[in-house]
Parts: sequence; C-alpha cells; structure tokens
Amino acid sequence: MKVNKEIYVQQIFSSIAKRYDFLNSLLSLNLDRSWREFAVQLSGASTDSSVLDVCAGTGELAAAYAEAIGQHASVLSTDFCFSMLAVGQEKFKNRNTSFFIPIEADTLSLPFQDDTFEIVSVGFGIRNVSHLQKGISEMIRVTIPGGRVVVLEFTQPAVPVIKHAYYLYFKKVLPLIGNLISKNRHDAYGYLPSSVMEFPDCYQLKMIMEECGLVNVSYYLRTFGIVAVHVGSKR
Ligand SMILES: C[S@@+](CC[C@H](N)C(=O)[O-])C[C@H]1O[C@@H](n2cnc3c(N)ncnc32)[C@H](O)[C@@H]1O
Repeated sequence: MKVNKEIYVQQIFSSIAKRYDFLNSLLSLNLDRSWREFAVQLSGASTDSSVLDVCAGTGELAAAYAEAIGQHASVLSTDFCFSMLAVGQEKFKNRNTSFFIPIEADTLSLPFQDDTFEIVSVGFGIRNVSHLQKGISEMIRVTIPGGRVVVLEFTQPAVPVIKHAYYLYFKKVLPLIGNLISKNRHDAYGYLPSSVMEFPDCYQLKMIMEECGLVNVSYYLRTFGIVAVHVGSKR
C-alpha cells in the first residue's frame, strides 16, 4: 500500500466524494441499492432499533435503513472522510428526517460508550480500514449484548466462469471508466479491485468475525457471489 493506508484512503474518498454515488450506481449497474437493501433486511432492524453505520460515506446505507424501517429511523453515520459525509448531508437536506446523522469519526476509535447500539453495520467500508480485526472489535464494543454486527462487502466469486468474466470487468473495465469519469489522480478505481483481491474471502471473514468475539456468524451471497453480507451477534 502506498503511503499510510489511512491517509491514502482519506485522499481517495475526498477526491471522488462528489461523483461517488453516481459512479457506484453506474459501475454496479444499479445493483448497489439492492445489496444495501439486502443487508438491512438481514440486520433485522425495526422502527425502534438504534443503528450505527460506520464508514458511512454519503449515507446510502442509512437511506436503505430509512426505506425499510421508516423515514424517522435514527441512524448515526460515522466516517473519517468529511467530504463524503458532506455530500450525504447536502443530498438529504431536503428530507425532513433524522435518518442521516453524520459524525466524523474513525472506525478504529468510535466516540461511543460500550454497549450502545442494537445494530452496527458497515457497507463496503471495512475493507478500507487499516486494521480489519481492530475495526470489527470496535464495532462489537459499541454493540449491545444480543445486538448484531452486519458487514456488507465485495467478495471473490467461487464459480470459475463467473470469476473470469467478473475479474475482466472489475480489474480492467471498471478502473478505466471510474478513473476517467471521476478524473481521479489517486487511481481510486484501480484501488477498488486491488483492495477486494487483498481482502479475506467470505469464509475467512466469518472466522475473523468469530475470533473477534461474535457468535452465530452467517454469511449470504448476492449477485453470483460477488457480494456478501455477514451477520453476527454479540454475546
Ligand atoms: C466505499 S465507501 C462506502 C460508503 C458507504 N458505506 C456505502 O455503502 O456506499 C468507504 C468509506 O469508508 C470510509 N473509511 C475507510 N476507512 C475508515 C476508517 N478507518 N474510519 C472511518 N471511515 C473510514 C471512507 O472514508 C469511505 O467513505
């Protein structure tokens, strides 16, 4: 990884913040919305759930919670990239709701007491955190006993023919389009596939979540196994 990972990740997301949502929809062929909806569904969130979404970016997962449990859902959204949160704030400013409450904070050091939230989620973010185990442990720390930690993340498809087609798109086409449209100097859309390749596969991630202390960890695949949602409970 070039320079310090945290600084590099912050630079990347600051530089693409304004085009992040548009490129997400374009490059995922608009599937990203359904992936977030699926994660929210698996979280078991209900109207009175207290939810924390870490690495929240522009608040798309918070919006998915609101869609599922009502516009008065209260979702605290943390991220260490101010520009991403600012795009979310601007986007939702005309929706008179409490579902996106942005807080600038590092997932490795969350500004909340132990045992605070019923659900703590992360969407396409934990892969970017410089220390995976510490990030998950910190999410667990702020979850109430019996609460759930939900991780939505890209993973590597297992079926060979899907894998080849997907890698062709993910490693060649996506960086080309992404960097071109975002006019990015930091190779943000080259970083995306390389970070997914370096990330543990879904079975390894399940083991890591269990090692961090979660129980009953299950994972569910989406879209030919390119995306996984892991859900575990805090004892
Ligand atoms: C790919 S975006 C995901 C945004 C959003 N969750 C979504 O579903 O679109 C990853 C986000 O993680 C944030 N991030 C990465 N490492 C972080 C850390 N250690 N603490 C807080 N935010 C972090 C980045 O700033 C970025 O906004």
